[in-house]
Amino acid sequence: PDALRVGMAGLGTVGVGVLRLLESNRDLVRARAGRGIEVVAVSARDRSKDRGVDLSRVRWADSLAELASDEDCDIVVELIGGAEGDALDLARAALSQGRGLVTANKALIAHHGLEMARLAEENAAPLKFEAAVAGGIPVVAGLREGAAANAIERIYGILNGTSNYVLSEMEASGADFGDVLADAQAMGYAEADPAFDVDGTDAAHKLAILAAIGFGSRIDFDAVSVSGIAEVRAADIAHARTLGFVIRLVGVADCEDGPEGARLLQRVRPCLVPKQHPLAHVTGPTNAVVAEGDFAGRLLFQGAGAGAGPTASAVVADLIDIARGRTGHPFSLPVDSLVAMERADPGHR
Ligand code: HSE
Repeated sequence: PDALRVGMAGLGTVGVGVLRLLESNRDLVRARAGRGIEVVAVSARDRSKDRGVDLSRVRWADSLAELASDEDCDIVVELIGGAEGDALDLARAALSQGRGLVTANKALIAHHGLEMARLAEENAAPLKFEAAVAGGIPVVAGLREGAAANAIERIYGILNGTSNYVLSEMEASGADFGDVLADAQAMGYAEADPAFDVDGTDAAHKLAILAAIGFGSRIDFDAVSVSGIAEVRAADIAHARTLGFVIRLVGVADCEDGPEGARLLQRVRPCLVPKQHPLAHVTGPTNAVVAEGDFAGRLLFQGAGAGAGPTASAVVADLIDIARGRTGHPFSLPVDSLVAMERADPGHR
């Protein structure tokens, strides 16, 4: 069979990671995908930069619009980032021309996920975003497929690697917030603008995506109530320790019973976590997600939530699924069946 042909927008850490993975695991990927996966075109701001990967066989697209309408590409991989602007224009253009979209962009899906899913459905184009949530952890597929037979009652976890690194380093060394954050930036976990890591927005993006998949609801990012870790001091961590707790930035999505039916509660908060709880043992730039299913019970997904290798692993997993024809509904149900859930905690943000 013909190879799945990919056009990739953005050649930063993750994009280069995808090219490296496809190169070093070529045979394995071909066997699992049932055909080759080839990056045939790329778009990035700087063509001359040495990225340490062989780009001699790929074509440079002159613009994102050109990439979106490239007849030689079956799928566009969007690694630009940001909820609006180039990423949104590219995603809309690709899907409306029937080209599949694989994205690592949590802000885009958190803000425009419903529109993207509708465009995908109308144009019979696959849409996948495993890499948008918790890097290498297959939690999107885990909830959407692995736990598909369950009513999910609650999803919670550590969804931002940078803030978890900061909190656990402050805990281990008593170091200052600013120094530890600079380390996380230097190691490439933090966003270009780490404000979203620190203020909880990045975790909120991912929480809203998981809630929509788990509960089969219309994604509702604006309903997430968010506090980040900027106010947490070494003294708070020390005090929590004397009480038997650690502090973690935890996102919780709860499907509660309300007078008019189910209501959705979504919150991101620095939380006191008992030392014996599994989330207390999650340190460094790691993510962990707990989902409670009515038949499967408590499921714990844990692993690297950021970084080139883990995020590339999730992007290529999506490409393998598409190559195999396993496309499914991005949020687990057809768009018209997704429920607009009442907000349990209205008026936030
Ligand atoms: N900045 C994010 C984090 C990267 O620290 O978790 C993955 O979304």
